[in-house]
Amino acid sequence: MTTKIILDVDTGTDDAVALMVGALSPDIELVGATTVNGNTAVHNCTENTLRVFDWIGMPQVPVHEGMDRPMARAQMTQLNPAGRIHGDLLDLPPATTASVQPGHAVDWLIDTYLASAGDITLVPVGPLTNIAMAIQKAPAMLAKIPEIVIMGGAHDHGNSTASAEFNIWLDPEAARIVVNCGRPIRMVPLDATHRALVSLDDCRTLRGLGTPGGEAAARFVEKRIEGYGATQPMHRSNAAPVHDALAVCAVIDPTIITTQFIPVDVETDAELSVGRTVCDFRFRSGRPANVSFAMDADEPKFVRMLTEILGRTA
Ligand code: BDR
Ligand code: CA
Repeated sequence: MTTKIILDVDTGTDDAVALMVGALSPDIELVGATTVNGNTAVHNCTENTLRVFDWIGMPQVPVHEGMDRPMARAQMTQLNPAGRIHGDLLDLPPATTASVQPGHAVDWLIDTYLASAGDITLVPVGPLTNIAMAIQKAPAMLAKIPEIVIMGGAHDHGNSTASAEFNIWLDPEAARIVVNCGRPIRMVPLDATHRALVSLDDCRTLRGLGTPGGEAAARFVEKRIEGYGATQPMHRSNAAPVHDALAVCAVIDPTIITTQFIPVDVETDAELSVGRTVCDFRFRSGRPANVSFAMDADEPKFVRMLTEILGRTA
């Protein structure tokens, strides 16, 4: 049985791999993609998303452009070295066949969910601005969202700041609305994504597949490995996380991550820890659990899934 998903992306190198996994997996029906300000300006994220779909021969996947800034605060200075890891435009030819659809992403999300049978998993892998805006504008859509699988958050260590992960940090007010929305939420934070690294050797394997997906993934992960090596070395050299793709793989095979169901909230008002996902592993807050938070991931399974799925063609 296939799972229907909508991917909300700020495409970026790892979003690009997530899009290809979502589009090419036989276990996923990719209903569409919505773009949001994040790794780069939203119009670049949109162009990058279209480039990816063109490259893999799936220009028919609907793409809607969304919010160009965080909900409640001005665009924060990008403290994380996103530029080195992503750049503004992906290293793929400009999109010629895929084109952005009319209609704002927030409205398309609302209309699509309200018209759905309640069977579309929402997979946001960028800042949560579009999702929070949609929830605020049309709370009735919540009843139609079976699950939200978020790439975002960090418990042990941040990447934008000492305590905050980029997607949550860029729009903490939006993230707070989403994690408290009352629907089932799985969160794939840095604690999990840093446990599932893709190596230069894996890139050679991906390129050797001889498919558009394998070639593009190899290119993007190599760029990531270079950027991480220069700015945020991992516990192993010549390897990097591909955060957003792990979230899509967790939809296909939930056993790829190890989760704990705990109360999680987002800090929105603190000088040192704004954007922190506050994880109540010991239930000290007295609040009910709201998030299945992943603290580990299965690296060999992740690499196997990437290789199998990106070896496919449209
Ligand atoms: C997240 O931030 C972005 O740079 C990546 O695309 C990923 O979604 C990781 O912190
Ligand atoms: Ca992303």
